Amino acid sequence: MHKIMILSGAGLSAESGIRTFRDHDGLWENHSVMEVCSTQGWIANRVKVTSFYNDRRRDLEFKEPNHAHKVLAQLEHDYRGRVIHLTQNIDNLMEKAGAKDIIHLHGTLTDLRCEACTQIFNIAYKKQVGNEKCPHCGNTRVRHNVVMFGEAAPEYTRIYQSIKECTLFIAIGTSGTVIDIIPIAKEFNKHSILIDPKRQNTASTFDPHDYIDEYFEHFIQKKAGDAMEDMMDIIKEHMGQG
Ligand code: APR
Repeated sequence: MHKIMILSGAGLSAESGIRTFRDHDGLWENHSVMEVCSTQGWIANRVKVTSFYNDRRRDLEFKEPNHAHKVLAQLEHDYRGRVIHLTQNIDNLMEKAGAKDIIHLHGTLTDLRCEACTQIFNIAYKKQVGNEKCPHCGNTRVRHNVVMFGEAAPEYTRIYQSIKECTLFIAIGTSGTVIDIIPIAKEFNKHSILIDPKRQNTASTFDPHDYIDEYFEHFIQKKAGDAMEDMMDIIKEHMGQG
């Protein structure tokens, strides 16, 4: 039975009104990414970083899943094989669309993490005000549950597992800057789909190709919402191959 690996990025949630990272001159919601998403920034100014994620969490309450989230959630339920959906997004729009099994590689906005025992706990859309206690060990030193530059991303092991298990790779709305999607596409021996409205350059000057899409079997150069029908056609065709 075929298994599908999906790796999504900020572009998946763009049509829900959540900004991507690299389409705005290196600014994320008008902040330098390194200030609000790196261990250096966190050490330099915990109050600022906490306030930044409080704002993102508050905004998220009013964001709705878009057509692509809904189609992908439906696919998870209906597909005869298994869909392993790994996302770099920290929003919960796939879950709002009804998905049950999303692997958040870079953490989740609606959780906090204890700095003492590393357990995470849900705070939904609430503001972190500083008096929160870890329900597991009682420590008050808790923080946003977002993987920052300079930190380990333990869920990345799921990428390598999924490559071994799956027969089709679908990358949606990711520039491949943080997780390089070229070696992943290569592992799939061309059974792969890339969805992005913009062609993205390969990063290395030694690369034989100019664009990332050249490593994929199918490139659907559309916004995620507009690409779903084409994606479903290719999945059906792939399933038919045994
Ligand atoms: N549909 C599909 N793709 C889109 C859309 C859309 N409507 N709009 C933009 N895109 C594409 C862009 O062309 C770009 O290739 O989505 C991609 C977004 O790329 P990035 O902003 O780099 O986001 P992402 O790859 O998810 O970033 C990875 O970087 O800062 C860190 O931890 C953060 O998870 C994030 C990681």
